[in-house]
This record gives sequence, structure tokens and C-alpha cells, in this order.
Amino acid sequence: MLSDAASALRCPVCQDALDVETRPRRALRCPAGHSFDAAKQGYFNLLTGKGTAFEADSAAMAAARHDFLSAGHYAALADALAELAAPGLDRDGAVVLDSGTGTGNYLNAVLKRSPAASIGLDISKFALRRAARLNPGTVNIVWDVWRPLPLVSGSIDVVTVVFAPRNPPEFARVLRPGGRVIVVTPRPGHLAEVAGLAGMLRIEEGKDERLAGSMGGHFTMAVQEALDIPLQLGESEAADLAFMGPAGHHLDRQELVASLAGTGTVETTAKFALTVFTTPPASS
Ligand SMILES: C[S@@+](CC[C@H](N)C(=O)[O-])C[C@H]1O[C@@H](n2cnc3c(N)ncnc32)[C@H](O)[C@@H]1O
Ligand SMILES: [Zn+2]
Repeated sequence: MLSDAASALRCPVCQDALDVETRPRRALRCPAGHSFDAAKQGYFNLLTGKGTAFEADSAAMAAARHDFLSAGHYAALADALAELAAPGLDRDGAVVLDSGTGTGNYLNAVLKRSPAASIGLDISKFALRRAARLNPGTVNIVWDVWRPLPLVSGSIDVVTVVFAPRNPPEFARVLRPGGRVIVVTPRPGHLAEVAGLAGMLRIEEGKDERLAGSMGGHFTMAVQEALDIPLQLGESEAADLAFMGPAGHHLDRQELVASLAGTGTVETTAKFALTVFTTPPASS
């Protein structure tokens, strides 16, 4: 239920508590009267003032992501993430935050394994339209994760971040003592064959060190798992895969399909790292 996550929400204008109203219409509202109506698809836009400088995923990128993920190619990743999240969500009233939730695919897997209250943040309303449909009990919010999060300090049990930007100081602030952040990143060689065909960005060496470094001031690295998923993709699946990532901001979908025409089946391997970071437990 949407209201299960209400205790973790705070007004982006005055920082007071936000309540979830369902009547006369669905809205988030604080005691001072700042109110944010739900879009008809069910997500909330809390970004006020001038727009953000960051480039949100387009409708076409969200569609490619949805098509590729719903075909189940990355199901093993969703399962692995859900397993790592489960021990952090086993208390009554636990709240999970999926930061950069996209179309909500990974949060959906986490919630199937561990029914918990949930919040999804993303800067793309196109992605959130799909996330709101897939995870109707989640409070899905248009937000820029580089800003202070519209969340109460110490209110979140688990943060998941799958191929999305990280804001370590804010994650540390919103997590409960003993909470965990689970970060999924690509490893060197990730989708190398598709990257070569489609002009995608290659994964640089040293990303791991940067991840540990950026999180290190706030968290302790508890677990790191590598996961390889071999893929055999038709041309249109390879095009979706190239288009749904950061390269989609620069590529034209039609040109991409044309450049892949005649390639036949592409064999490649998705190479992921799942890293669990923890905060110190509450001192007794
Ligand atoms: C590569 S996608 C990953 C989406 C999802 N986690 C998944 O794996 O399916 C990156 C996501 O981060 C979102 N994003 C990028 N910059 C953002 C920001 N500053 N604040 C919030 N979301 C952002 C994009 O809109 C996009 O949905
Ligand atoms: Zn307010």
C-alpha cells in the first residue's frame, strides 16, 4: 500500500512530514498545505522550481528497457539483487528505496521476495509511468537524486541502485542504523560485443575502485558478488539493449537498427557486480 511508505516521506519545500491522501484524489500533502497530486498514471512529481540540468531517459529509452527486461534476459540479476536485499527487509514496517528505479523491474523482484513498503525515485517521468503500472503499491516519485532526497532521516532499511547515479551522503542520511545499500554496476567487458557493434560506451577499468571510494566515507563494503549472464540476442533485442542505456541519449534508434541489420544473432556476456554497503548498527 502507498500509505505504508508515508512515514519515510518528507516535504521537499518545508521538510515536514508528507502524508499520502487517496480522497478526493491521490496526493501527497504536508501539514503546511504543500500538495503534490498524482499523475494519472499514479506517480508523483515532487520536483519544484526550475527543471533539472540532467538528461532524463526518453519515452523510447524507457520502452526499450521495458521490452528487454520483460523478456527476462536479466532475471538472474533481479533474483540475485532480491536475495541480497531480503535480510535487510525482514522486520515489520521495513521500507526499501530504489534510487533510479527506471521502469521498476528490479524493485518488482525485490518486492516479490520481500513484501515491504517501497519508494522509487527517478528523474524520468516516462520511466515512472511504467514503474507505476508495474509496482502500484510503490510511491514512485519524479526526483533528481543529486538533490537532498524528499525522505526522512533514518527511515529506510535498504537502498537499491541499479545502473543509476549514487548520492552517498544522502543515502547515509536516509538509512536506518544497520541499513544497507546494494549497488549494481557493470564490470569490464560487460556486453563488449554489442558495445562494439552499436558504438556504446565501454566500461572503463577502475570503476570498482571509484565505487568503493565514493561510498567509502559513509559505508563499509560488506559483500561483493560477480554475476555473468551469457546472452544470445536477435538484432532487435541487441538494439533495445544498446538503446536502453546511457548510449540511448546519443543514438538514433533507426540508425541503430540499420547498423545492426544483417548481424544475425549476437553472442555476448552481461557482466555485473553486486556490492552491499552497510552502515554501522545503532550503538546501544
Ligand atoms: C540505466 S537506467 C537504470 C534504471 C533501472 N534501475 C534499471 O536498471 O532498469 C538509469 C536510470 O537513472 C535515471 N536517472 C538518471 N539521472 C538521474 C538523476 N539525477 N536522478 C534520478 N534518476 C536519474 C534515469 O532516468 C534512468 O531511469
Ligand atoms: Zn511542506
